[in-house]
Amino acid sequence: MIDSLQDWLFMVTKMDDFKDGLAGVPAAKSRVSYVDGEKGILEYRGISIQELAQKSSFIETAYLLIWGKLPTAEELEEFQTEIRYHRRVKYHIRDMMKCFPGSGHPMDALQTSAAALGLFYARRALDDPQYIRAAVVRLLAKIPTMVAAFHMIRKGNDPIQPNDDLDYAANFLYMLTERKPDPLAAQILDICYTLHAEHTMNASTFSARVTASTLTDPYAVVASAVGTLAGPLHGGANEEVLIMLEEIGSVENVRPYVEKCLATKQKIMGFGHRVYKVKDPRATILQNLAEQLFEKMGHDEYYAIAIELEKVVEEYVGREKGIYPNVDFYSGLLYRKLGIPTDLFTPIFAIARVAGWLAHWKEQLAVNKIYRPTQIYVGEHNLSYIPIDERVVAIPSEGMDGF
Ligand code: CMC
Repeated sequence: MIDSLQDWLFMVTKMDDFKDGLAGVPAAKSRVSYVDGEKGILEYRGISIQELAQKSSFIETAYLLIWGKLPTAEELEEFQTEIRYHRRVKYHIRDMMKCFPGSGHPMDALQTSAAALGLFYARRALDDPQYIRAAVVRLLAKIPTMVAAFHMIRKGNDPIQPNDDLDYAANFLYMLTERKPDPLAAQILDICYTLHAEHTMNASTFSARVTASTLTDPYAVVASAVGTLAGPLHGGANEEVLIMLEEIGSVENVRPYVEKCLATKQKIMGFGHRVYKVKDPRATILQNLAEQLFEKMGHDEYYAIAIELEKVVEEYVGREKGIYPNVDFYSGLLYRKLGIPTDLFTPIFAIARVAGWLAHWKEQLAVNKIYRPTQIYVGEHNLSYIPIDERVVAIPSEGMDGF
């Protein structure tokens, strides 16, 4: 209830500014990446995603994002060597993971383990470049090891130690199987990392920046971002896509499935984007990579379903509402061909996005002002406290009022 003219005026003025989900509201000035959702353009530090996917490696791209420029050969070599050296995680962390329920989701395990790094590297010196560098290296180096370690532990095995002879993506695949991966598989995973490394002010990056703005440690920043990425409307969609393709089961079932989703206002996973109103440029690259992989490693039964789904969604709502495949649509098919279990798809997204989160962490520190937005209070005032034995039992209603 609004009980004063002042409250009423405040609310009317502020309601005009209010946007659900902060849609279209700038939350930071940033130089890290750029998206043009109408033209389907994505750039990291001004370089197109197509060019980086073709010419760069994930670690070089991470350097570009975090330090703001492409490294020289020497700088890259040094960065790679440092990351390689720091891949192992302390046995305390591995022991901690052995206490996690094996049935738990790997994103929850990753969030907990990322936060735990803050216990073991407790010094917080945000104005010391050496501290910043060490935190960047540690997080990039150890996150894949922790994802793979949880996977092995939940299967009842000991974690596989990182292999110093292997590059970043190849080593991750090795830690899942103890076999050196096919070079094409490793190369494709590395490109997937590059494609997922950064994407302007998405939910998890916003979360990272809000956490960073309190001047807490970088492990807490990454842990909070991992928790945000896990949801099915964000990074978790890549797992949901495969579950959906499985449920559809055949090309003939695509049309009725889409009709049912649209009739019941159910979201079709891997489609739609807050910013892109055309096909996500990363989805196009991922689709090409998937085709390359299928050519070498054999066809995937779900690919035909995916193609038909893209066609039918475009026909029904795509053109009208700008709903096209996003980054999560084809990545799952690719990871499946690489033999990666479905519930590791989102952790793989997290491994890559650490680079973007760290770039935003550094950028936030450089201009920091703590995030503290306001709200529009729409609750009541001046109510009396009712003694417990006088309270009426509320009949649960189906819909909450949203507050
Ligand atoms: N399937 C069917 N309809 C959709 C979809 C979809 N996937 N996405 C949007 N729409 C419709 C929606 O029903 C609405 O229609 P109307 O205006 O008639 O009510 C309109 O398009 C606008 O949708 P919205 O939900 O208001 O848009 P948003 O910007 O709030 O949400 C989104 C963006 C990505 C959360 C949403 O498209 C979605 O839930 N997609 C499915 C989940 C998904 O694939 N997420 C991955 C996002 S990209 C990578 C990442 O962030 O990890």
